Amino acid sequence: MRDVTQDHLTRFEGACLEPTICVLTEYCPKGSLKDILQNEEIHLDWMFKFSLMNDIVKGMSFLHSSPIHSHGNLKSSNCVVDSRFVLKITDYGLSTLRTMSKYEDSDNFYEKKLWTAPELLRSPIPPPEGSQRGDVYSFAIIVHEIALRKGTFYVGGIHFGGRGIITKVRNGYYPYFRPLLDHSVLSEDLCLLLQRCWSEDPSERPDFNQLKDIIKKFNKENGGNLVENLLHRMEQYANNLEGLVEERTAAYLEEKRKADELLYQMLPVSVVDKLKRGVPVAAEAFESVTIFFSDIVGFTSMSATSSPMQVIDMLNDLYTLFDAIIENFDVYKVETIGDAYMLVSGLPVRNGIRHAAEIARTSLALLKAVKNFKMRHRPGEQLKLRIGIHSGGFVTAARHLNRPHSTSTGSCCAGVVGLKMPRYCLFGDTVNTASRMESNALPLTIHTSPSTKELLDKFGSFLTQPRGEVEMKGKGKMNTYFLIGENP
Ligand SMILES: Nc1ncnc2c1ncn2[C@@H]1O[C@H](COP(=O)(O)OP(=O)(O)OP(=O)(O)O)[C@@H](O)[C@H]1O
Ligand SMILES: [Mg+2]
Repeated sequence: MRDVTQDHLTRFEGACLEPTICVLTEYCPKGSLKDILQNEEIHLDWMFKFSLMNDIVKGMSFLHSSPIHSHGNLKSSNCVVDSRFVLKITDYGLSTLRTMSKYEDSDNFYEKKLWTAPELLRSPIPPPEGSQRGDVYSFAIIVHEIALRKGTFYVGGIHFGGRGIITKVRNGYYPYFRPLLDHSVLSEDLCLLLQRCWSEDPSERPDFNQLKDIIKKFNKENGGNLVENLLHRMEQYANNLEGLVEERTAAYLEEKRKADELLYQMLPVSVVDKLKRGVPVAAEAFESVTIFFSDIVGFTSMSATSSPMQVIDMLNDLYTLFDAIIENFDVYKVETIGDAYMLVSGLPVRNGIRHAAEIARTSLALLKAVKNFKMRHRPGEQLKLRIGIHSGGFVTAARHLNRPHSTSTGSCCAGVVGLKMPRYCLFGDTVNTASRMESNALPLTIHTSPSTKELLDKFGSFLTQPRGEVEMKGKGKMNTYFLIGENP
């Protein structure tokens, strides 16, 4: 065995027979041909496929002319591939060590026989070393496997299973049962070759010396001499790897994107980016922002007469709709608390006085959507939303701040509070006033504070209506407005 060495046979190092039979051969890190063919991530073009066939032919031709004479168990799992993508035949020459496989009836047993020639299947005592013509039949089954990459002995869509196939091949009735010759994939020459190699009559099968010339011709037609071929294989392998890396990177980026998206939903983008870079989110004063609050009138009584599931579905439908609408405006959703929805514009990224217009336009869009909104469990009823908006000054709190800043100046604080489940919170008087604007609004109106109205007037397009004097808890009397529309 040790004397039989060739590029396309795995090197035999030694064997021990006691206490169990162990055989040591050269290790081929790319695994078996079967594994490679099954791995969809490895792309094999025809040049590559023919070079693999060529390697088998060279190894087998050498083996047949050596004292070992024949293989007897040639199959795709006994063709292994080394790190340079050179195919080598293994498990040869040890037929004396191979215990005669007892006749079994398991599926596994039949699966292992898929490469066995019909005359050997029919033999009552098949020789463990097989026969040279039998090896050629096995070669044809492997070539078909390489060419189509649809598994061993692919016969089209029908599933016969190992047992069904072996029974049909062993019967030997004409037309002989063989793998499918798919002419759309296989060239005419290759089909002819396969038919000759798996002939029912062993004497019609070519020997490996003849096959050497035939495959060499295929190889030439598909390009290149030995060195070119090897380089091509390495290049393809590298390309495969590159493809793999690209694919894995894309998968990683996709996961990262999902994680980022989740974060961006919890905190403003600019704050997330700072936190990711490890930059502390410091307290920051915002001179001018506009806050939006909305609330569903009669939510408590509605909740009392609906099932919790119906309430959740309703809120989910409504806020999914709201979330989609606010995407179109420069506003940040601070939070939803039960049926209340809170937005702000002008922070954390300043936008001059545009925040008033952004919130006004968002409010008009949301109100319009609410008027058309159908509650699943009360389709005939109109949902009564009430909106309050107010503009004022702000401060951003630091990230680890646990208490809001003093609000004695009448301004407010906004920032990320706490370490666990960090949130971007707004504090202070402007928030309170905005909230009061909402609670004093009428159903289906946008209650606007004088400071917001003043800013909106600068745009010249917003239509407001004075509401008159309103008594606001803790704030005294205030002349407020309803925002009713915008001129195009
Ligand atoms: N020299 C080798 N280098 C790398 N992998 C190998 C080598 N020899 C075998 N293998 C891997 O180990 C697997 C099992 O091999 P093993 O010879 O035990 O079973 P088999 O080839 O499927 O069937 P059989 O026992 O009939 O040869 C092969 O499919 C192959 O993936
Ligand atoms: Mg094996």
